[in-house]
Amino acid sequence: MSDENFYYPSQHVIDNANIKEYDDLYKYSIENREEFWATHAENINWYKKWDKVLDKSNPPFYKWFEGGKTNIILNAIDRHLSTPARNKLAIIWEGEKGDVRTFSYFALNREVSEFANILKSMGVKKGDVVTIYMPQIPEQLFAMLACAKIGAIHSVVYGGFSSEALADRINDANSRMVITADGGFRRGKVTELKSVVNKAMELSPTMEICITIKHAGIDVYMENDRDYWFHDLKALPIASHKCETEEMDSSDTLFLLYTSGSTGKPKALVHTHGGYSVYTSTTHKMVFDIKPEDRFWCAADPGWITGHSYIVYGPLINGATVVLYEGAPNHPYPDRWWKMIDKYGINILYTSPTAIRGLMRFGDSWTKRHDLSSLRLLGSVGEPINPEAWKWYHHVIGQDKCPIMDTWWQTETGGFMITPLPVTPLKPGSATRPFFGNEIAVVDDEGNEVKAGEEGNLVIKSPWPGMAAGIFRDPERFINTYWKKYQKQGWYLTGDSAKKDEDGYFWIIGRTDDVIKVSGYRLGTAEIESAIITHPAIVESAAIAIPHDLKGNCIHIFAILRKGYEASHELEKELINHVSIHLGPIARPEEVKFVDSLPKTRSGKIMRRILKARILGLPEGDMSTLEE
Ligand code: WT7
Repeated sequence: MSDENFYYPSQHVIDNANIKEYDDLYKYSIENREEFWATHAENINWYKKWDKVLDKSNPPFYKWFEGGKTNIILNAIDRHLSTPARNKLAIIWEGEKGDVRTFSYFALNREVSEFANILKSMGVKKGDVVTIYMPQIPEQLFAMLACAKIGAIHSVVYGGFSSEALADRINDANSRMVITADGGFRRGKVTELKSVVNKAMELSPTMEICITIKHAGIDVYMENDRDYWFHDLKALPIASHKCETEEMDSSDTLFLLYTSGSTGKPKALVHTHGGYSVYTSTTHKMVFDIKPEDRFWCAADPGWITGHSYIVYGPLINGATVVLYEGAPNHPYPDRWWKMIDKYGINILYTSPTAIRGLMRFGDSWTKRHDLSSLRLLGSVGEPINPEAWKWYHHVIGQDKCPIMDTWWQTETGGFMITPLPVTPLKPGSATRPFFGNEIAVVDDEGNEVKAGEEGNLVIKSPWPGMAAGIFRDPERFINTYWKKYQKQGWYLTGDSAKKDEDGYFWIIGRTDDVIKVSGYRLGTAEIESAIITHPAIVESAAIAIPHDLKGNCIHIFAILRKGYEASHELEKELINHVSIHLGPIARPEEVKFVDSLPKTRSGKIMRRILKARILGLPEGDMSTLEE
């Protein structure tokens, strides 16, 4: 491949990079995987060092740093208190209305310890699952960190999900406590959260206690002996700012995070204290080239894995300053983000292609009002970034001097898997090459590597410390979903299709399973279909993904009407709202098409490929397996 395809980093970037060279270190990390990771595990603190770097006696249930004792809080907070980082800002938070709150590591420790003592006094114990359903406010982070500190397991549910979706997740995890806020702010309006929680609690027999943070200042219904205001609890002597961090086994569960798959209800991926600490901090430090004075802004919601790994845990373990913003990027004007970069002197911005495309459409004049020269590195995640958006991001936001870290990873992987380093020559639209220690390939259904430039299944051939330890209380599903297809080889199936070019660069194409990525959010067709058929007018449906300029993909539904109902524009609108109310606004379909039948295989599987071709006006391809 010729040189013109590459964007090379400047000498300045190379001179200052934490990691200056990829090839030799990659080779070393593959040949000495356990040694490589042991060296990086030495960079964090342990109450007791591990006996074994990797226990592979029971694949795919790998255990990293077996025998080690730590707690992610020991590294994300405690260890900073005896260093100069004690008085450094850990969090800079800006509310949508423009209010600002900042916390040093010293202050963060007080907040988290007080929260932890409150949780303890409410009966939360090591191993209990606490559900967190919050707007993007500092207390969301405090709640997560407080759980971790006392050995409880947090399950953060994104604040945009509906009460049904929340109740499903509470019930699946057997959670008895939920932490929420009265409401949050988005585009100048209040989004209600506590009222959604109230509905979810009615659907959740295990739910006993709800702690509510007052943020939006709206009236909410509170029930005696079930509902507590956080500020009331904080005023009690139980909320002392002294709290011991619980010693955890390396493989003890830190959190559950629900994500969509091809079948059934969302599943809870399990991440652990030890391996996850090592993986998130190492990837964050190397890829985003973190320096002690950096201000790092990952503009995701803390409720997704991106936020867990790269707003909360990775950066705090590295003692970085993180920026957190509550609201919409275009409120009150489309320059809100650029204004914040200027105001706080942000050095690194990490966001999604959807957000970039969304801001790009407002034009360059909004960016020109602000000084973006503090930026040193940029990042992208969530879906493939189209070269046009990449170039705009690079040129207009990065002013041609900031390399873009296009990081490919998943909820399941815990941290970056394919990613450039600042010194990597870049190709717009490619996540480039595997992170250290990872052997990654594009293979056919039998497991043979496909030729350069050909499409195939993306697999991960070797274990890594950030990998999920399993699906919560469902080992079978963990095996079936990720490890069955290449069981013989012992490889992890990512569910993505990809190409690898002749330079060894990976190009992600998209999901091969029935998962739809809308604005970078992950949704299962099964969830969407079960939401729409709860409407009396619908007997059967099929949801598919259609390319969309802004969102990457959008949802189209083909639906069969029940006898007695007639197709109409009003009914279509009603169904669109129905899905959006049931699952949350991110799952709002673009269109519902009424049909008499759905194309199926003889075994009854809906042939989504044919439906998609129909909408796009493409040839419908091989129909030999079509039944109807
Ligand atoms: C799926 C995982 C990992 C954080 C956010 C998403 C897609 C993710 C990229 C990228 C192309 C990407 C894949 C993957 N994806 N990053 N840089 N380039 N595609 O986590 O919700 O678990 O989704 O997101 O399809 O499988 P997630």
